[in-house]
Amino acid sequence: MTFNHKSVLLNEVIESLNIKADGCYVDGTLGGGGHALEVVKRLGSGKLIGIDRDSDAIKAATQRLNDYSNNVIIIRDNYVNIENILKKENIDKVDGIYIDLGVSSYQLDTAERGFTYRYDAPLDMRMDDRNELKASDIVNDYSESELFHIIRDYGEDRFAKNIAKHIVEYRNKKRIETTFELVDIIKASIPMKIQVTGGHPAKRTFQAIRIELNKELEVLTDSLDVMIDLLKPGGRLSVITFHSLEDRIVKQAFKKAESPCVCPKKFPVCVCGNKSKGRVITRKAILPSEEELEENSRSKSAKLRVFEKGV
Ligand SMILES: C[S@@+](CC[C@H](N)C(=O)[O-])C[C@H]1O[C@@H](n2cnc3c(N)ncnc32)[C@H](O)[C@@H]1O
Repeated sequence: MTFNHKSVLLNEVIESLNIKADGCYVDGTLGGGGHALEVVKRLGSGKLIGIDRDSDAIKAATQRLNDYSNNVIIIRDNYVNIENILKKENIDKVDGIYIDLGVSSYQLDTAERGFTYRYDAPLDMRMDDRNELKASDIVNDYSESELFHIIRDYGEDRFAKNIAKHIVEYRNKKRIETTFELVDIIKASIPMKIQVTGGHPAKRTFQAIRIELNKELEVLTDSLDVMIDLLKPGGRLSVITFHSLEDRIVKQAFKKAESPCVCPKKFPVCVCGNKSKGRVITRKAILPSEEELEENSRSKSAKLRVFEKGV
């Protein structure tokens, strides 16, 4: 199967990085290497470190970037480990880092990965298949209240309570093993009227379970400050998000890195000692153009935010 994935906000990310031919860059979510290819094309003696936790992505990107193998180091890992990854490569600071969050179209389209409600497959959804926990463990072992909170918060589904209740009722009789079993349970929890008018009834719950399983919000929260600290003066961190909670994490982390002072407003001078790490380049998030929205529906909820390290 070919790695089909249209890179989102491609030109915008490339522009945001101010790429220098001799610079060193990190792609924390390499995927099919779409963004990475445009970065390496602009390098002379520079380097790109490409990270992904998915072995299929590593294979696809290795192939795609083959012509630039002198410029590229590809590593299968979680981007949350970026500091150690760079240390192992004897790299202290870099000129730019970017992450393009969420799943790739390839992951979604590969039925047996269990990411999608469109195909019947075992409930897996692991980005990194070296991890033991699968989506089926969440669905069968989390409490009703935990399921409710995940589906409400990460899926933003207004029928979260009912879906959680139906999941628990079903699994009391039989373990939930497949995507289609879960789809049927979700369908039974949502009024028919909504099912006909809204998008696919299972979309939000599947997204919620995927985010929880792969700890997507936790690793993002734990990584942004570290990434900023790894930038050289003037270096840029560019982040594409697809979920309102992700975007909020990025917006708040960037704001705090820009203005970390916690002194009460009435203090004439800062005494907390927290120093700004740089500035937010994007006062408002950059959104896909009309043209991109038309040709790539996956770009619909994408937002790009950029931070520049101070000099
Ligand atoms: C949207 S795709 C990236 C697509 C890529 N930018 C391109 O243009 O081809 C997201 C990728 O990030 C990977 N990923 C998500 N979270 C990750 C993490 N914490 N560490 C490493 N890779 C991660 C996924 O496995 C997936 O391959």
